Amino acid sequence: MIDALNEKGIRLTVDAEDFLKSNHSDELLKKIVELEKPLVSREDIEPLIEKPGVEVERTPGFRPVAREFDAEIKVNHTFDVTGKSRTKGGVDNFVSHFRNRFERLGRLLKRSGQTPSVSLADVKRHLNEKVRIIVLVLSKRETKKGNLLLEVEDMTGTFKVVVSFSKYNEKIMDKAKGIILDDVIAITGKVLEPYIIAEDIEWPELPVIREKKLSENDLATVYLSDIHFGSKQFLGQYLKAFTDWLHGKGAAKELAGKVKYISIAGDVVDGIGIYPNQEKDLLIKNIYGQYKMFDDFVESLPDYIEVIVTPGNHDAVRRGEPQPALGKDLISADVTSLGNPSSFSLEGIKHLIYHGTSIDSMISSIPNLSYMHPEKVMVEYLKRRHLSPIYGGNLIIPENIDYMVVEEPPDIFHTGHVHKNGYTQYRGTLVINSGTFQDQTDFQVKQGHVPTPAMVPVYEMKYGRLRTLDFKS
Ligand SMILES: [Fe+2]
Ligand SMILES: [Fe+2]
Repeated sequence: MIDALNEKGIRLTVDAEDFLKSNHSDELLKKIVELEKPLVSREDIEPLIEKPGVEVERTPGFRPVAREFDAEIKVNHTFDVTGKSRTKGGVDNFVSHFRNRFERLGRLLKRSGQTPSVSLADVKRHLNEKVRIIVLVLSKRETKKGNLLLEVEDMTGTFKVVVSFSKYNEKIMDKAKGIILDDVIAITGKVLEPYIIAEDIEWPELPVIREKKLSENDLATVYLSDIHFGSKQFLGQYLKAFTDWLHGKGAAKELAGKVKYISIAGDVVDGIGIYPNQEKDLLIKNIYGQYKMFDDFVESLPDYIEVIVTPGNHDAVRRGEPQPALGKDLISADVTSLGNPSSFSLEGIKHLIYHGTSIDSMISSIPNLSYMHPEKVMVEYLKRRHLSPIYGGNLIIPENIDYMVVEEPPDIFHTGHVHKNGYTQYRGTLVINSGTFQDQTDFQVKQGHVPTPAMVPVYEMKYGRLRTLDFKS
C-alpha cells in the first residue's frame, strides 16, 4: 500500500508508514489519494479509518443490575508515581530511597513489637542481655556448621547476627531461611559480642485480625491481566466470549449483569522490543495498533462498566518500577489509567494492584515458591509489606519515596505477570492472580511453564464470593 501511494507521488511521514503497516485496506488507500496532499502524516490518516462497529445489540431479557448504579471509584494518588518521578538515578536518590523504605517498614515493625528496639550503635551496651533490633539485611550466608550468618544494618551502624542450627530451634531456622537480601526485619536475640544470637525474626506483616469489607450494592468486579494485544498468541476468540458474556449472552447471566468494574493488572499489550526477536511473535508490529485493539475492546464492553488499567513490563511506559500510568497518547478509550503499583477503592473495598514483575526474582530467592502458585509469592509481599523486596532482582527506579511499600493493608490484592491464576486469603486480604488471555508462548514451552488462559475471576462484592469463569468452553 505504501508503494502504491509512492507511485502516485504521495509521500508519507515515518509515523504514517508505521500506522499503515497495521491498518491497510483498498478503501483507506482510496481515501488517502482523495486527500490530494503531497505529504501525508498519521494525523491525516487516523480520521479516515472507520471505527469498528461497537456492539449495541441488546440481549432480550438481559437487565443488568450494574446499569442501575453509579460507579464508586476512589483513587489513592499518594502512592502512585504518575507525574511524580523525581529521580536522576544518582547516589543521593538511592540513599533517600532506602532510607524511606527503612523508615516506613521500621515504623510498622515498631508498632508490632513488644519490646522497645535498640539501635545497632547501642547494642554493645547490652552485653548478655536480650535486645530487639530493626534492621535491613545486607548479607546472608551459611557457615560450615550449618548456622546462618547475617550482616545487618540500621541508620547507626552494622552488626552480625547468628541463627544457630540445632534441633531445638528448627522453627527459627525455617523462618531465617526465608530471609532475603534487603529485607527489613526485627530480630530479637541475646548479645554475645561480636554477635547477636537470634531467637526470633519478624517481618512487618499485616495485622492478624481485620474486618472483612463488603459492599452495600450487589455488584461485581472482574480481574484481568496479561491480555497481550498484538501477540500472535493472543486468544481473541476467548476474549470475545468474555465480552459476549458481559452482554448477557451465555450462562450465569445474573452474575454477568452485576459486573460494574474491570481491574486490569498490566501487560495490556505484547509491546515492541521487550525481548530479543520479539517481532516473530507479533501479529501487530505497531505499538499504536496494539493499543487500538485495547481501545476497541473497551468500546465493545457494556457502557455502564468502568475499567481501571495499570501497566506491566510489556507496556509502553518505562520498564523500571514503579511505572507511571499509560497516557492518552496510547489509550483513548474512557478508562481510569493508573500507575503500577497503585491503590484505589471500589464500593469502599480497598484494592492494591501490582503487575508482579518481581515475582520472578522472589521465586528464585525464597524456598518453596514456584510459578504454579503465584498466590504464595503474593503472600510473601504482604508479609514484607513490600512489592519488590530484592533490589536488583528486577529493574527498580530509586525514587525518593519507595512506592513499592505496602502502606495500607488492602482488602483485595491483584497481580498478574505469571499467566497463571492463583487465589488465597491471607489475614483478611483476598489475594488474586488473574491469569492471561495469551496462549503458551515458545519461551514458556522451553521453561515448562503452563499458563491458565481465559480463566476469569469475578468477585461479588456484597457477599465476598469469588468465582472463576472459564471462557475456553
Ligand atoms: Fe504477561
Ligand atoms: Fe508481565
